[in-house]
Amino acid sequence: MRTSALKPFSKKAGEKFDRADWASAYCNVEKELEEQELKLIKGTIPKELSGYFYRNGPGRLERDGQWVHHPFDGDGMIAALRFHNGKVTLTNRFVRTIAWQEEEKEQKFLYRGVFGTQKEGGFLSNAFDLRLKNIANTHVVKLGDRLLALWEASSPHALDPESLKTIGLSNLNGVLKPGEAFSAHPRFDPGHHDVPRMVTFGVKTGPKSTIRLMEFATSGKDAGHLISDRKDTFKGFAFLHDFAITPNWAIFLQNAISFNPFPFIVGKKGAAQCLSSDPKGRAKFLLIPRDSGSFAGEESRTINAPDGFVFHHLNAWEEDKTLRINSIYYKDFPTIGPEEDFREINFDLLPEGILKSCKLNLEEGTFHSKSISEQCCEFAMVNPKKQGLNARYSWMAIAEQKSGNGPLQAIKKLDLFNSKEEIWSCAPRGFVSEPLMIPKPASSNEDEGWVVCLIWNGERRGTDLIILKAHDLSEQAILELPIGFPHGLHGSWVAN
Ligand code: CO
Repeated sequence: MRTSALKPFSKKAGEKFDRADWASAYCNVEKELEEQELKLIKGTIPKELSGYFYRNGPGRLERDGQWVHHPFDGDGMIAALRFHNGKVTLTNRFVRTIAWQEEEKEQKFLYRGVFGTQKEGGFLSNAFDLRLKNIANTHVVKLGDRLLALWEASSPHALDPESLKTIGLSNLNGVLKPGEAFSAHPRFDPGHHDVPRMVTFGVKTGPKSTIRLMEFATSGKDAGHLISDRKDTFKGFAFLHDFAITPNWAIFLQNAISFNPFPFIVGKKGAAQCLSSDPKGRAKFLLIPRDSGSFAGEESRTINAPDGFVFHHLNAWEEDKTLRINSIYYKDFPTIGPEEDFREINFDLLPEGILKSCKLNLEEGTFHSKSISEQCCEFAMVNPKKQGLNARYSWMAIAEQKSGNGPLQAIKKLDLFNSKEEIWSCAPRGFVSEPLMIPKPASSNEDEGWVVCLIWNGERRGTDLIILKAHDLSEQAILELPIGFPHGLHGSWVAN
């Protein structure tokens, strides 16, 4: 593999972070390692922390001098950080998708990317090539005895949970049709109805959109098996990246967005670049009763939603006759146009992610929303044992500055009951990715445990693993990885 040199970057006026440090994370992952021990720089690794921290994200951003147009078009690479006896080892491996194998052999891009990466030869060679490149780069979860590398527009890839070897595209024991969409955002019900479950969905979209809601057993001899399945059709185009669950409901937010595929068909834009806000549209919550809950078998409902665009939800719960859902709202749908270089994006021109709470009145069909935190945030979660319940604490990645958009450089613990905040920051030269809260085994304190996160250390141009104490975000340990990973996407914790 060879890598083109990065273009030089200069500080833009008023910029508080080092753009060259931030952009230097956009590199190819050069090696695949097996169980390499990480170097402990500071602190100690708690012995109770035993299991795998899996993380997915783009690992290949350039081929033969051509860069992807957007990092989300980079091929999925899985990192498995194994915590065992107070040590951490790293195994990392690209998902052997069909496209990755073909492009690896030819050493050039042979597919168009959804976020605007084009093949060589201009729009003539891209027009009418409507194949979807399943790059398996968005999330990684364990279901039954397999690890699944997820990409929402198509089927998951199954991997071996220890070696990370790709077994192949999976239809989950016949559940999925070939190429059927399967979300990259499953939610793990901690046991609202006796046993824990993985709740997830697939969406088939068009002038009408159909959501398939699926629930899988995650424990016992049936682990990995489908235990409930329903389909609901709603009016209008639906771009659904994430959703939320409560004991009785699956909650989706249908953004007011339109899709004009023409520039994609004629080879000028990637499919996701053809999405735009629909000023005449109305955002809606789509509420689907869960088969395991008190409204099983009833029809789905819709309730109007606040304006704005949502990728990710924090959590939802039920309170009296209302549903409560906390989500990260952007004023507008952010996109990178065909002429822009992603490493030159001006954060000042991008809308920031604001955490808002919405109360849905199921009897009246109305909503009420309020802002919880104005500081730009992403990748927010609650203690996994509180998924779907009224959680007190949340952990999230945030921008360093108090207002406006900016790169994610800090981690925040937010008390949702009294707005008290704890912040750990690696600014100006460090950049965080999704923080994962891992509860301390057998503890009933909601904020007892750790937060793990892979950060880009701009100073040494490499990736570090940080372990913080969940309750006050004090540093528990810092470890250096032997190789660097680009800013990544989602991950999960699998306890031993
Ligand atoms: Co996501």
